[in-house]
Amino acid sequence: MNKQVKLPQGFFLGAAASAWQTEGWKGKKEGQDSYMDAWYKENRDVWYEGYGPAIATNFVERYREDIGYMKEIGLDYYRTSLNWSRFLTDYENAVVDEEYASYYSDMIDACLKAGVEPMICLEHYEVPQVLMERYGGWASRHVVDLFVKYASKAFERFGSRVKYWFAFNEPIVVQTRVYLDGLRWPFHQDSAVWMQWNYHKALATAAVMDAYKKSGFRREDCKFGTIINVETVYPRTDSPDDVNAADKFDLFYNRVFLDPAIKGRYEDQLFDLLKTHGILMEYTSSDLELMEANPVDWVGINLYHPNRVKGRMTAIRQGAPFHPCYYYEEFDLPGKKMNPFRGWEIYPRIIYDFALRMKNEYGNKEWFVAENGMGVQNEGKYRDETGMIQDDYRIDFFKQHLYWAVKGVEEGCNLKGYMNWAFTDNVSPMNAFKNRYGLVEIDLEHDRNRRLKKSAYFFQQTIANRCFSYDPDEDYK
Ligand code: BG6
Repeated sequence: MNKQVKLPQGFFLGAAASAWQTEGWKGKKEGQDSYMDAWYKENRDVWYEGYGPAIATNFVERYREDIGYMKEIGLDYYRTSLNWSRFLTDYENAVVDEEYASYYSDMIDACLKAGVEPMICLEHYEVPQVLMERYGGWASRHVVDLFVKYASKAFERFGSRVKYWFAFNEPIVVQTRVYLDGLRWPFHQDSAVWMQWNYHKALATAAVMDAYKKSGFRREDCKFGTIINVETVYPRTDSPDDVNAADKFDLFYNRVFLDPAIKGRYEDQLFDLLKTHGILMEYTSSDLELMEANPVDWVGINLYHPNRVKGRMTAIRQGAPFHPCYYYEEFDLPGKKMNPFRGWEIYPRIIYDFALRMKNEYGNKEWFVAENGMGVQNEGKYRDETGMIQDDYRIDFFKQHLYWAVKGVEEGCNLKGYMNWAFTDNVSPMNAFKNRYGLVEIDLEHDRNRRLKKSAYFFQQTIANRCFSYDPDEDYK
């Protein structure tokens, strides 16, 4: 039976995006490539149908129109990133690109005028390519210092208007795909480099938090955080072997960022294992002290799908570079529900399970779902006679996930809101426009025109009524 699920008091709804996935290169100057831009230029074959960041959704030119839709839907928050590679022309001295800064400033004003609070992330994979070439990117301690300079400049320019800042979006992703798994350009595998990037990004989060505190812009109603893609993990069974596999998976992919950001320190076990496997990062005790002194105010958590693991059944080849899968193998749960387009399992309870975890293991730290959503291919086939995409599957997806979020809040979890990925369809790394995530369609065949999908109206009504109707038993007919 349908019941009314009420949004808890103060619980917000928003939508997310990033600079490189929406802006396009209009106005970009020579030398301002990000790593993502360079990857697209150097290895375009793997980008679906050749689409990439070059035009993206052309947000730089169409942000007013898009913000109009945000207003129409009534979004509480819009999260995007400031493009580090474009905001500066000189990364060593943090010299601002006035043209880009002026666009960005207007974009912030337009959001505020529309009643949509901007959340700004300082890096969503947009590490400048020049710093990759010169220093190996985040492998270098110097890049941490450059990031602090950049962040300080961002606070100076926008800190009086932007209340919510985040160091990173998914700080583990680039180095995991590149240096650990060897899946992406420039195809260089090195597990020690992977861990050094992890460490420097955790350190940079603390260092920027410290700079924000000193900036004078961290007023009472402001918050600084970071956005972590938690890979919620379930052991195949309750056997000690499977449970240990899940614990190690969690340590290497989740606690490696959750612990320094929230608790200000790493677990001893992590140091021991990194030593055992010869990939302990270079660190200093003063860096660790800086982390200890600067836990974030809150965290955004990107939650899409569960991960299921079991203890290893097969041996790792002698001499293979260390990979966390030394401790686990993936487990394929028979009967699991799937989003076949993205190849991700759908298990809405991940939000509730993570909420309880935050409550029990992380001192009930304030957090919110920073991304959750459903990427679907060939959405055009769901268009009705008026031209609107009838994405009922996405509405069901939202309801299921929101239901578990609300249940978590009702049980005392400090979960503050939920954001959809993404506001409009946009460019995914490599998958480009293949899987569509947006509340708003980008019509590639017609000049990238925008049109609200049915799910945008679900969002609109839920925000206006502060409730939606849902039958939790619907899945068990
Ligand atoms: C998150 C990222 O991992 O998931 C986004 O923050 C990304 O940048 C989104 O686009 C969806 O994943 P994908 O790989 O389908 O684009």
